[in-house]
Order: sequence, then C-alpha cells, then structure tokens
Amino acid sequence: MVDTIGSYVQNRYPTHIGIIMDGNGRWAKQRSLPRSMGHFEGVKAAKRIVKAASELEIPYLTYYAFSTENWCRPAKEVDYLMNLFSTRLFSEINFYNSVGAKILVRGDIARFPSSVQDAIHATQDATSHNSHIIVTLAINYGGQDEIVRSVNRWLSERTSVTKDFSAEEMMKHFDHPEIPTVDYIIRSGGEKRISNFLLWESAYAELMFVDSLWPDWNKEHLVQACEEYANRIRRYGGVLDE
Ligand code: IPE
Ligand code: IPE
Ligand code: MG
Repeated sequence: MVDTIGSYVQNRYPTHIGIIMDGNGRWAKQRSLPRSMGHFEGVKAAKRIVKAASELEIPYLTYYAFSTENWCRPAKEVDYLMNLFSTRLFSEINFYNSVGAKILVRGDIARFPSSVQDAIHATQDATSHNSHIIVTLAINYGGQDEIVRSVNRWLSERTSVTKDFSAEEMMKHFDHPEIPTVDYIIRSGGEKRISNFLLWESAYAELMFVDSLWPDWNKEHLVQACEEYANRIRRYGGVLDE
C-alpha cells in the first residue's frame, strides 16, 4: 500500500521543480523591517521547502537564489546576501544530510568572495554522498549567461569547428548536464515573469505564479502547487487523442 502511494505521488508530481524565491523585501517592508530580515526569513523558508520536497519524494529542486542582475542592488544588500549564503545557506551540512540532500550549484561562482566559494565547496563535498533529493542553488545565475558559457565551453574544446552545434551539444555543456530539464517553475511573490531563470531548460515547463511572499512558504504551499501540476496536461506540441 505504501509503495503504491509512493509511486502514485512520484508519477503525478514533477520530477524537477525550479523555484523563483521572490518577495523577501516586500515581506520585510510589510512589517517595517529592513529588507535583510526578509532574506533571513527567506533562507528559513528555503530549508522548510527542501525538507518538504524531500518528504514528497521530489528528486530535483532548483532554487533561484541570486541572479546575474541582482548585483545591481545596493552594496549593503548584496553584502548581506553574500554573508547569508556562507553562514546560513551553505553551512547547514547536518540539515542537508538529515534530509538526504545533495547540494549543487548552478551559475558562475568565480565572482563571489572567497568565503562564499569556500562554503560552497565544503557543502558540495560534505553532501556529495546523498541521493534522495538533488538541491541545486542557482547563484550568480542567469539563463542567458548559462547559454553563453555553454557555447564558449563547446568552442574552447575544439581547435577548428568540425561539427555542427546542436541542442544536444548545448545541453551537454551546461553546468549540470546530468540534471533533467525543469518540469515546473513556481514563482512566489505574485510577479508573473521568469526573470532570466532556466531559459533553455524551461522550454516546456509548466509555470505557476503564487501570490504568497517567499518567507511565508511552508509545506502546504508546495503540496498545493504540486496538486495543481498534477492536474495539468502536458502535450509537448502533440495531440491527446486522434
Ligand atoms: C528575492 O526577494 C530574493 C532575491 C532576489 C535574492 P526580493 O529581494 O526580490 O524581494 P522583493 O521582490 O523585493 O519583495
Ligand atoms: C528574481 O527575483 C531573482 C531571484 C529570486 C534570485 P528579482 O526580484 O530579482 O526579479 P525582478 O527584478 O522582480 O524581475
Ligand atoms: Mg523581487
């Protein structure tokens, strides 16, 4: 019975969920708090949802945590986020191990301070044996940047272009070619846009925009979103019945 329920959940829930964690600043503003407090609470929500996704047997979760465009925020906010990443997001090794989460990173981390890069490497190493859920943190990530970096990797592997570039070659050169394309993109905070997240990989993703601000998220929000997904019909350009 348990097995049946388990496979039922896996069949109808998405394999790979991408989450645009938006609304931290507005959450803080509503409470007359500094934006940083919204980010602090946002990290707690991120942990709640990792745990929930692990319990729901979602195999892949990708978080949009810092975009290539977020560098244009005030230096004070960017500095706070860098500190939060190294002290709160990439330092929870015991927690990630307790839920069976392997942590990966997507994006160009060379621009981050060494303290953040060290924390990222330490967390990746300390969770590499986990396989229950793969949690990828997209930081200094942009869908356009990933495509450009992928093409450049392909070009740097050859002295002359003897082979046509293709969709397959593109995907082979992404940051994590082993991760399947995203099935479902969920954005909190009510905005209805993608903001440069997983542009190539979301070609056939289902989209979901939820008004609740990210720091308020708990397991119930994820379950509701997954239930909505379970009712969607994905056609991939085909037809259902002849
Ligand atoms: C998302 O929340 C977190 C990051 C982009 C790092 P915001 O900081 O964008 O929150 P709002 O959209 O201003 O409310
Ligand atoms: C998207 O949120 C990026 C992340 C959640 C990391 P933003 O708040 O930066 O997006 P825009 O500026 O509203 O499009
Ligand atoms: Mg925002």
